[in-house]
Amino acid sequence: MSKILISRAKINSRVKELAESISEDFSKAGAERISIIWVANGALMFAADLARNIKSLAVSMDCIKCSSYGMETSPRGKVETSFDTQIPIKGEHVLFMDDIIDTGNTSKLMLDRIKKLRPKTLKTCFLLSKISRRAKKAIKPDYVGFEIPDLFVYGYGLDARLIGRNLPDIRVM
Ligand code: IMP
Ligand code: MG
Repeated sequence: MSKILISRAKINSRVKELAESISEDFSKAGAERISIIWVANGALMFAADLARNIKSLAVSMDCIKCSSYGMETSPRGKVETSFDTQIPIKGEHVLFMDDIIDTGNTSKLMLDRIKKLRPKTLKTCFLLSKISRRAKKAIKPDYVGFEIPDLFVYGYGLDARLIGRNLPDIRVM
């Protein structure tokens, strides 16, 4: 059996708060529009909900496809990415979004690729963070929804052995 770790109501209000901070910070930095690069599949719901709460900026969105778990619940060490975006990055204000930062290895890899495209600013936003597992060389996230303990979670976009992405709450195995 699984239990709810973070309810849909808590996710909703936190996503609104994050969208407000992000809108305010990017506006202060002189942005009129932002490019959101979100990591598929896990950040699907998070990116969709957060973007819908950004009202004062024009928004472009595209995804990077990344998979490291497959049918497992612990990483195999090999991260596969595919990144072929049409949205503007060079000289733009970019927000990178993922479902969870754990060791930080996945995001480091993808952020290095985005940096090569020379965005004007690059901020990072994660719904969840497992700080206890962070690697030394990992990035420091700019925005985090919730700090969680080292538990395997799923729901609200995150999967457990390929199912559960549709669940409205975040659950723990
Ligand atoms: P990292 O490279 O260790 O930071 O792992 C980040 C990636 O692992 C995320 O993009 C997630 O897809 C996946 N991940 C880490 N922890 C969990 C979890 O508890 N549930 C589902 N996916 C997870
Ligand atoms: Mg992921």
